[in-house]
Amino acid sequence: MNIVIFGPPGAGKGTQSNLIVKQFKLHQLSTGELLREEIKNKTELGKKISTIINSGNLVSDDTVGNLIKRYISDKTYKNRIIFDGYPRNLIQARNLDKLLSQYNQKVDIALKLSVSLEVIKRRILERKSLEKRADDSEEIAIKRFVTYENNIRPVIDFYKQSNLLKVVNGEATISEINIEISGLIEGIKG
Ligand code: AP5
Ligand code: MG
Repeated sequence: MNIVIFGPPGAGKGTQSNLIVKQFKLHQLSTGELLREEIKNKTELGKKISTIINSGNLVSDDTVGNLIKRYISDKTYKNRIIFDGYPRNLIQARNLDKLLSQYNQKVDIALKLSVSLEVIKRRILERKSLEKRADDSEEIAIKRFVTYENNIRPVIDFYKQSNLLKVVNGEATISEINIEISGLIEGIKG
């Protein structure tokens, strides 16, 4: 089973993915975390993308497409990936379907975590004192939220049309959301 989880910055994608990977023995693929690793390791790619990420914009579709392809093409992860933060626009959503089908896989469920900007600002500022992410200022958090809103509508429609979309209230507690998501995943496992 492959799962897509999306939602605005601070929606809890990472938090929920972490719980789900343990419960269902999946592999978490966070494009944001992979990109931050590149920056931390000062790779060529890392140098190119740091300004983009730290300003709250999206890196190119090709860049993230290459990152996810590495995992999709690897048998170790076959039908076991939770995509955290990918896709973020329609091009990426289509690319994901295409890549998965090349390796005889598909998206089985798309979880949308809905959270308001007010709640997000609070969470990101709280996380700032714990994790020290370079893009966790209030200003950049708002910019990331706007970037998300500007790109995500067609992704929502894309998964709605294929009957894969499940909308989850991301403002409930971490454990309430986990229970809801686990139930949804159990439901598709049949
Ligand atoms: P990415 O790393 O994906 O960041 P994001 O989307 O901004 O989301 P976050 O990681 O900030 O939040 P989250 O939803 O994981 O929430 P979390 O669980 O941490 O992307 C970073 C950047 O990389 C992008 O801006 C872009 O530049 C680039 N990028 C990544 N993917 C890309 C792509 N596909 N295409 C192009 N560019 C891409 O929770 C947040 C905080 O809230 C935590 O402290 C947590 O403990 C707390 N919390 C979580 N849930 C709850 C809850 N229910 N109640 C209370 N607190 C909670
Ligand atoms: Mg995250």
